[in-house]
Amino acid sequence: MKENTSPLIAPSILAADFARLGEEVAAIEKAGADWVHLDVMDGHFVPNISFGPAIVKALRPHSTLPFDVHLMIEPVDPYLEAFAKAGADHITIHAEAGPHLHRSLQAIKALGVKAGVSLCPATPPEMLSEVMDMIDLVLVMSVNPGFGGQKFLRSQVRKIKTLRSMIAESGHPIHLAVDGGIDAETAPLATDAGANVLIAGSAVYGRENYADAIKALKSA
Ligand code: DX5
Ligand code: ZN
Repeated sequence: MKENTSPLIAPSILAADFARLGEEVAAIEKAGADWVHLDVMDGHFVPNISFGPAIVKALRPHSTLPFDVHLMIEPVDPYLEAFAKAGADHITIHAEAGPHLHRSLQAIKALGVKAGVSLCPATPPEMLSEVMDMIDLVLVMSVNPGFGGQKFLRSQVRKIKTLRSMIAESGHPIHLAVDGGIDAETAPLATDAGANVLIAGSAVYGRENYADAIKALKSA
């Protein structure tokens, strides 16, 4: 099912110039981005380390866009409050990152921020069937989490379709985001399958002109 409206674009600052992060965040707002995607990695749940709540807090004054914080960390519960206080508008956790997804989602809701759940490529969509009433966002990983610049896994298209049906059935207004290897070629695969949010690192920050890059993804 294809959305009639153009998808929301959430550039991932993982591909930005880390020495100029404030400017880089401001630049994508000016270029027409809808959300700022912030990838938090712990070197344990994923084999890479990025940044923590102090950086999120430092960036907050540089943008009025929603901060979409993607936590690739385990355990996650001890850090939820710090990210909410730092200015996260959405906190997305991994279904694989702990035994108590329901409890973690309760904790996120109690902090007054939107709750998201991400699924790694090997995780089935049914993992979310009992928590559909608690979530505002589902994030399908179309690469294995940990690094930018990887190739889009076409095997994930079927999962996006299944989740689109599950969301329709739930009756809840849940965003369906796809993250990893999104560019002008792969974006239509995600949106045709039902995604309404495209997360892109390299395809925005790796390009010379951010506005053209965002436009290309929106109209792909
Ligand atoms: C990967 C991150 C992604 C990443 C996407 O673990 O969750 O958000 O930055 O980068 P690209 O768009 O380059 O695949
Ligand atoms: Zn991400």
